[in-house]
Amino acid sequence: MSQFDRKTEAWSALFSEPVSELVQRYTASVGFDRRLWRADIEGSLAHAEMLAAQRLITAEDHAAIVRGLRQIAEDIEAGRFEWKLALEDVHLNIEARLTALVGDAGKRLHTGRSRNDQVATDVRLWLRGEIDAIGALLLALQRALVEVAEPNAEVILPGFTHLQVAQPVSFGHHLLAYVEMFARDAERMADVRKRVNRLPLGAAALAGTSYPLDRDRVAATLGFEGLCQNSLDAVSDRDFAIEFTAAAALCMVHVSRLSEELILWMSQSFGFIDLADRYCTGSSIMPQKRNPDVPELARGKTGRVVGHLMALVTLMKGQPLAYNKDNQEDKEPLFDTVDTLKDTLRIFAELVGGIVVKPEAMERAARKGYATATDLADYLVKKGLPFRDAHEIVAHAVKHAIGQGLDLAELPLDALRSFHPSIEADVHAALSLRGSLDARQVVGGTAPAQVRAQIARHRARLAG
Ligand code: ARG
Repeated sequence: MSQFDRKTEAWSALFSEPVSELVQRYTASVGFDRRLWRADIEGSLAHAEMLAAQRLITAEDHAAIVRGLRQIAEDIEAGRFEWKLALEDVHLNIEARLTALVGDAGKRLHTGRSRNDQVATDVRLWLRGEIDAIGALLLALQRALVEVAEPNAEVILPGFTHLQVAQPVSFGHHLLAYVEMFARDAERMADVRKRVNRLPLGAAALAGTSYPLDRDRVAATLGFEGLCQNSLDAVSDRDFAIEFTAAAALCMVHVSRLSEELILWMSQSFGFIDLADRYCTGSSIMPQKRNPDVPELARGKTGRVVGHLMALVTLMKGQPLAYNKDNQEDKEPLFDTVDTLKDTLRIFAELVGGIVVKPEAMERAARKGYATATDLADYLVKKGLPFRDAHEIVAHAVKHAIGQGLDLAELPLDALRSFHPSIEADVHAALSLRGSLDARQVVGGTAPAQVRAQIARHRARLAG
């Protein structure tokens, strides 16, 4: 088939010359949008079924279309389908093959439809399935984190602000912070899904169609929760893809923060954890090295997904209504976002379970940096001092302790009393790391009892 034939086949006799090979390559999307084939066939089957029900095509044509599309699905599945660049995209490839298989019935499939509403439908159908897969992966990751949090509810590490030792926290509590983040990511995905799950078909090229289509019937067949209610909007906006990518970028940001912590914790200066060998690699020059490649890559791939978000937002911003070919550029960023996020979540659900916790190193670090200074202030408040005064008194005590090279808990009672007479023998219980932890019994606090209550809540929420 010559290039000229390609043009006359795809559209019309209007064209007097073929596109150049470069233009053909430049405009074609079949190299990447072929992955929409399943959605494309599903959408076509639903459209054809409705056309037949509305008597817009005959039962025989409908049967031929179903037979042809099933054959095509089998061929694609088996790797037998011949994708042609000259046929531009997944839609024209499948339609041309259908016509080759079943003749005129294949040509009737496109009645009342345009590739503009077809592609919007395909992307929505495909993305809906991917959102469901991502939801399942987010569940698995949350479960994995809860499983590691449980045995570590009593393990103490320094909590940081400004990466300076702040107050002791439970390692289980620390992990549950990420469970909260991923739970919100799952909520966001579920919310995005509602707006993804609306049917564009019926919008045709941009204005709707003069055929009496039954859009509700197609929506019901495809499991869409509603119809896009404006034909111009239906074919042109990709905000559903943008908001999905925004939710994905945010989820990657959460993974990236966790990655950053794992990398820090695994470094010799912290030594809080170890990662299983299967997530690390060595160095070709330094024999002693074990590098946390997986979290580092996750941190790096976060930049890539954030970049996809920027690409999609920018893709949209200058487009007049309705469909423009610009929109073909939505696919690669969207596909890569889905692939990157799914791989990352899958690998993290495994990696988290392989974290080797080093409680002694964590606790040793918590003993440095006067992590219980706030507890001494709280102790004085309980003895009747206003908090601001207590804060100032403790600052003096910390200054003294730093001079002595001792922790607050290591100062003798007499030395502590010299800062305020209300300090008594019970002060040491308050200054201990465990005492500090146990004192934080507020809901959402780091006291192990609270951490266990949260674990129980998450388990119930994540069950099933
Ligand atoms: N491949 C196109 C896309 O991804 C399909 C729609 C093309 N429509 C058109 N009128 N050129 O957006």
